[in-house]
Amino acid sequence: MRKPIIAGNWKMYKTLSEATDFIKALKPLVADVHDTGIVICAPYPVLKDIADEAADSNIEIGAENLFWEDEGAFTGEVSGPMLLAVGCRYVIIGHSERRQYFGETDETVNKKLFAAIKHTLLPIICVGETLEQREKNETFKVIEKQIKDGTKGLGAGDWGKVVIAYEPVWAIGTGKTATPEQAQEVHAYIRKLLPKDIANDIRILYGGSVKPDNIKELMAKPDIDGGLVGGASLKVDSFVKLIKH
Ligand code: PGA
Repeated sequence: MRKPIIAGNWKMYKTLSEATDFIKALKPLVADVHDTGIVICAPYPVLKDIADEAADSNIEIGAENLFWEDEGAFTGEVSGPMLLAVGCRYVIIGHSERRQYFGETDETVNKKLFAAIKHTLLPIICVGETLEQREKNETFKVIEKQIKDGTKGLGAGDWGKVVIAYEPVWAIGTGKTATPEQAQEVHAYIRKLLPKDIANDIRILYGGSVKPDNIKELMAKPDIDGGLVGGASLKVDSFVKLIKH
């Protein structure tokens, strides 16, 4: 059985006090949740404080990015050991906004994946097609390339640490969710691309305008194992509704 995960992706939102207040408020409201993994991925400056705040709880903390080198002259970058040292357990890799605005490619995703695994961070690898690609019927081709190139060379023993997020670019922050059927179709396709012996154990999250009013029907699909949630993860009440859908 795959334990579902509801992961918030705060993107570039929340100052330090806003972030710690959120975790303080969230903790008691989800203390009774054991059947769902709860993850908050947040900007670097708040990670240490929210990880400390969440230390005695069932909330796990993740970063939204990392660089693949351990240290060096790479102004503005943050490494795996740094994230681990402040209490991160997860890291998002290859979010479509990173691909779109910061030049991330399947090759950089692959390097970051290996860096995450090396430092025992659990990667959440994002894949997804643009509207143009979907309209040209290229969805499966695009997803296949992102999965294959992004995870190239990953050893059999490391696949169990990987979480995948399918996030159609046209559904992110737009209010347009993929229908549960559209999402399920791609999730099932992704699962077929994964190594056979472990494919059924790997969590595949859906992301793109996940909200309290659509989470239930998405989660009812057999290959949807949770959500990677932007907008609806910024308010405690909507995030709790997603966790307790
Ligand atoms: P959204 O973002 O829920 O605001 O659409 C999802 C994401 O980008 O991970």
